[in-house]
Amino acid sequence: MSHFSLDHEADYQAWKTQKLTDYPTRLADLVVEVRDPFDLSRGEVEAILSRCAKTNMALFCLTHPERIHQNPLPAMTARLGISEIDHNLGADGEGLSSLTPGGSKHAPFAHYIPYREAAIGWHTDGYYNPANHPVQALCLYCERPAHEGGENDLLDHDLVYIQLRDHHPEALDALMRPDAMTIPARLENDGAIARPERSGPVFSYTLSGLHMRFTNRVKSIRWRDDDATRQAVEIVRGLFAAKEPIQFRGRLEKGWGLISNNVLHTRAAFSDPPEAEKRVLYRARFFDRLPRTP
Ligand SMILES: [Fe+2]
Repeated sequence: MSHFSLDHEADYQAWKTQKLTDYPTRLADLVVEVRDPFDLSRGEVEAILSRCAKTNMALFCLTHPERIHQNPLPAMTARLGISEIDHNLGADGEGLSSLTPGGSKHAPFAHYIPYREAAIGWHTDGYYNPANHPVQALCLYCERPAHEGGENDLLDHDLVYIQLRDHHPEALDALMRPDAMTIPARLENDGAIARPERSGPVFSYTLSGLHMRFTNRVKSIRWRDDDATRQAVEIVRGLFAAKEPIQFRGRLEKGWGLISNNVLHTRAAFSDPPEAEKRVLYRARFFDRLPRTP
């Protein structure tokens, strides 16, 4: 996909014009009503995929969530055309993670932040994956929202790329280096290496699209040790703070979900009363991107 190459200016300008024309401005523009998630209609599939092609994300909203008693993500994602599920350690046998306090299937992960109630800053999923095996699609389904909180901010990473390319090309260049960002090894309690150190670029691209690998956390991450990279990270953080380019904010309610090409996102802290049933969100990650058309 040559328009993401810094050498192909005319292709980039043409892509950008198309990308920004009629770009949605309201969360509601992203929402597709779904009648039966186990039997998506052609119109529902087209509505979801066309939004993903435009903004890298779509939200879905079941018209009858009370009729659904099992996680619909496997059926929906198969119908939408993605299949290379990431069987990560916190997931169950189908590759689905239940994001609920204490919900990790892998005991050492139970204290990890997705399985707690704390806020999570801007990131894309799988930022610690090998650079040649990134999480391309991220899908969520809300079975039960929290009593309070748990909202998400969402930001199309293509727009961050455009901001950098147009206003800070040297920063973009720094973030496309293969050693821009390094996640240190994860060690077991006995010191054995559970996951080796991983380095990779923030922005990379293939024929099917742009990928962003990012976390705003400051612990357990090592940025390339030079001024260009440090300045680039500050510029990206400044974009988040300025809410420019456009960010969407909303909360997945019961029967709502996200289908995305692993867009940037946050999660607000949430809480449930001590005796109440806890928030349950299902997550599925894929190594393939959503097709642009059915
Ligand atoms: Fe995430």
